[in-house]
Amino acid sequence: MDMEEKNIFAEKDVAAFNEGDLCEQERTPEPCTMVIFGASGDLSHRKLIPALYNLFCDQRLPSRFCIVGASRTEMDDNVFRANMRRKLADAGDDLKEWETFAARLYYQVISYDDPSSYAALGRRLAELDQKHGTGGNRIINLAIPPSLYAAVARQLGRAGLAAENTRQGRWTRLVVEKPFGYDLQSARELNEAIHTGFREHQVFRIDHYMAKQTVQNILVFRFANAIFEPLWNRNYIDYVRINASEDLGVENRAGYYERSGVLRDMFQNHMMELLALVAAEPPSLFAADWVRDKKAELFRSLRPFSNKDSHLILGQYDWGLVGGKRLNGYREEAGVDPRSITPTYALMRVFIDNWRWQGVPFYITSGKRLKRKVTRIDIQFKAIPHSMFRQVIGGDIGSNRLIIGIYPQETIFLNFHSLKPGPRFCLRTGGLHFSFSKGQEDAGLEAYEKALLDVLVGDQTLFWRQDELELCWSFFDPVLDSCEKCDDRFKVLHPYPAGTLGPQAALDMLPSGSWPEKPQ
Ligand code: BG6
Repeated sequence: MDMEEKNIFAEKDVAAFNEGDLCEQERTPEPCTMVIFGASGDLSHRKLIPALYNLFCDQRLPSRFCIVGASRTEMDDNVFRANMRRKLADAGDDLKEWETFAARLYYQVISYDDPSSYAALGRRLAELDQKHGTGGNRIINLAIPPSLYAAVARQLGRAGLAAENTRQGRWTRLVVEKPFGYDLQSARELNEAIHTGFREHQVFRIDHYMAKQTVQNILVFRFANAIFEPLWNRNYIDYVRINASEDLGVENRAGYYERSGVLRDMFQNHMMELLALVAAEPPSLFAADWVRDKKAELFRSLRPFSNKDSHLILGQYDWGLVGGKRLNGYREEAGVDPRSITPTYALMRVFIDNWRWQGVPFYITSGKRLKRKVTRIDIQFKAIPHSMFRQVIGGDIGSNRLIIGIYPQETIFLNFHSLKPGPRFCLRTGGLHFSFSKGQEDAGLEAYEKALLDVLVGDQTLFWRQDELELCWSFFDPVLDSCEKCDDRFKVLHPYPAGTLGPQAALDMLPSGSWPEKPQ
């Protein structure tokens, strides 16, 4: 069979289905200045500056644009530019356009608790507005330790740096990184501090999972196709499994991680985002508040964790052998308390109390130092109600599964049964496979690039809103209480060897046949 014949159905059908890509209108960001607080820190040189540089090279930044790095370290513009250049060169970036980019890069020393320092920053920004014609529009990015968020937000408000002028069309946006609080109370306090100067429409709380395009694709897959949504409910779905496992350990972040643990680090934010996109009701418009309203409604419907059906298994990685190499246990890692009871793995079984999802368990797992880095969502459909083949094949037929792969493969895979060609009657499992980036390998945006681009055009769809955040914390507060305040914390923490699939207790709780396959 030649190629032409082989593709005939697919080609015809694609042509009939769609005459080309359906795209939104190009969004052009307005002139502005971006201020990066914590500019000498890790996040700034690892993520923010490289993302801005790439956007610049792709001509996605406004032509009238500049960046002001602000942090405590004493240095001038030239030293800052040289430092950033070195970091990008070390990371292997192509620096062809660096000099033009660097001409828009400035530095301002700031003392985070000193009002006069903010006044000086204000004067510098006014000068740069003139120089670059940025019209007074500002994006303030808080790439500083979370313990400073509230104080800095308050100072910005007091110094008039949060102000907007709607009549003149002059805006200010604040970008905040996770963690947004440590629990409900602290999240509320942080929101209050932010709101002393900024209004909610100015606040962009980044979750880099939402900025992953394969994650956004969940909404497109569900709501741009008519054939999945009728099945997307308790009548057809047996369970949903959401996993983000990592092979890396805590690395050099023990100081942060010891206080946070896997529930605050991954569940309260990223895993809840994934859950919301899989389970929320369809918004009537793909627009920030429409989408966020539906996510908030979903968070409101989470069954309180105290209920006996909900389950939590916590684990912590122990030492393990991978490829003959000994990997440290969590308690042996630099900066970790040798008696630490911080969980590095969790499995949660949660339920959503609404019409669509009543009785459907959602198994959510995430952990560090596991066998592989895999982020995927499995929608497990129910078994067929009656097998007409049972006498012939002598057994049950496995049920269909839809897999949304986010990492390492960006795929959608739907498995189903078909007849195996041959003299005997045999069923085999095959499926439909879609590769998200095939043919578009260079078109994708890295998560930070996407997030910054959305901040530049003022689109809050992918960012946490205050109420969503507080609803999630109200769900997690009792969970955290139950595992942090109980007397037998040592006992509830299941050790697992580094490089494995996780604690046995968690694997035992997963439905049989679910991913990952249990070791024999
Ligand atoms: C971060 C967590 O938010 O997400 C890290 O703080 C984690 O601990 C990371 O490793 C995982 O992100 P990704 O995109 O690699 O899955």
